[in-house]
Amino acid sequence: MEHTVDFSAQLDRALNNLHEEGRYRTFIDIERQQGNFPHATWTKPDGTQQPITVWCGNDYLGMGQHPVVMAAMHDAIDAVGAGSGGTRNISGTTVFHKRLEAELADLHGKESALLFTSAYIANDATLSTLPKLFPGLIIYSDALNHASMIEGVRRNGGAKRIFRHNDIAHLRELLEADDPKAPKLIAFESVYSMDGDFGPISEICDLADEFGALTYIDEVHAVGMYGPRGGGVTERDNLAHRIDIINGTLAKAYGVMGGYIAASEKMCDAVRSYAPGFIFTTSLPPAVAAGAAASVAHLKKDQDLRDQHQTQAKILKLRLKGLGLPIIDHGSHIVPVIVGDPVHTKVLSDHLLADYGIYVQPINFPTVPRGTERLRFTPSPVHGPDEMDKLINGMDALWSHCALNRADLAG
Ligand SMILES: Cc1ncc(COP(=O)(O)O)c(C=O)c1O
Repeated sequence: MEHTVDFSAQLDRALNNLHEEGRYRTFIDIERQQGNFPHATWTKPDGTQQPITVWCGNDYLGMGQHPVVMAAMHDAIDAVGAGSGGTRNISGTTVFHKRLEAELADLHGKESALLFTSAYIANDATLSTLPKLFPGLIIYSDALNHASMIEGVRRNGGAKRIFRHNDIAHLRELLEADDPKAPKLIAFESVYSMDGDFGPISEICDLADEFGALTYIDEVHAVGMYGPRGGGVTERDNLAHRIDIINGTLAKAYGVMGGYIAASEKMCDAVRSYAPGFIFTTSLPPAVAAGAAASVAHLKKDQDLRDQHQTQAKILKLRLKGLGLPIIDHGSHIVPVIVGDPVHTKVLSDHLLADYGIYVQPINFPTVPRGTERLRFTPSPVHGPDEMDKLINGMDALWSHCALNRADLAG
């Protein structure tokens, strides 16, 4: 059929724009080896294969291959088959979903939890639904909030105010400028994944108390890893009771898939009843829910794994600093090395992969501001001393090869 619009040319234009801006994304084809993570096999575009070590994954604790998680998933799939076969409302609620929600509510000390197919959907569906529940709601959103929160806030048709990243004074200014009677919600994160910095949770809760606002926190890069039971930074700092809605993922430290909110029973009931992103989609496969529940339950007790994770991050930062490389260190588990331009970042990443078998994806604009292009390493308890040595040697050699600046180690 003849189109009046040249759709093909428009697709070319859209794709060419990305190529011209150096923002076209190519995916690296990797296959993890069960029981041997972070080792994996890279299948190159020409079909040949090379062993690699993954240094940029979000399976932060290696739970994706933990025997407890694997066993729970095998048992569930053998018991009930592959998919759930329905939305939560229409035949897709199983004992596995209910158990996982109970596990998550307990994790955060909340009355209830509500599962979504990802934390992206949990953020988007919840934030876009809240103005239906609270007409006139104004959402105050941190400038560096994740795309899923931005999307939820943008689509919700309600009012939004963006406060400068972690800037409490600016947030106060914005709160003061609005009608004291308007319903308000402050949305922010506990660990910002690009710089690895922490949100000022208690100060934000103080402002929320002062202005009668609800609080919404994304703990995606903290659940499983912080707090004595893995309840995130809000658990570590004993602040969970001051947060109205906690968002988390089951796909990163818990090593499986899915997302959720934890909140009061009434809040979860209302979101469950009004959010299209919850209602009109097939629920998670039971085996996924079973694996996630096993992971959450396990990490409530495995402080040792959390300690090893933090130790690995400290060692890597120390060693990179020892080379004089410009890392960002906010005391979290995320290790960003700032390269400062997209070309060198890509050269480093390409050579690390091809010459050293080290896989770390370059991170460019618009994910991070221009001039702060970086390599972002995610050390885990399953990265041993050999892997660490190889990474340090590779970075040292390539940093010199690219003639990039180092800090003055004598200074
Ligand atoms: C801060 C933040 N929130 C939400 C998400 C989405 O999590 P999920 O992968 O479960 O959709 C991400 C994922 O990268 C994230 O970084």
